[in-house]
Amino acid sequence: MKATVDPDRCQGHARCWDISPEVFDLDEQGHGRVIVTEVPAGLRKKAADAAANCPERAITVS
Ligand code: F3S
Repeated sequence: MKATVDPDRCQGHARCWDISPEVFDLDEQGHGRVIVTEVPAGLRKKAADAAANCPERAITVS
């Protein structure tokens, strides 16, 4: 599984980082970014939860 954050949609709500800090971090502007190239199997549900909880629908997991 891969996760991406669309920087044009992200508004810095930080729910991704709150829900799944193993996969997401915040940059200097407080915008979400993905810190792993591949989401490990054990973190897939958390990454999907983060995507589902982003109010801007900025996160894609595939
Ligand atoms: Fe941005 Fe959504 Fe995370 S708005 S900081 S990707 S919860």
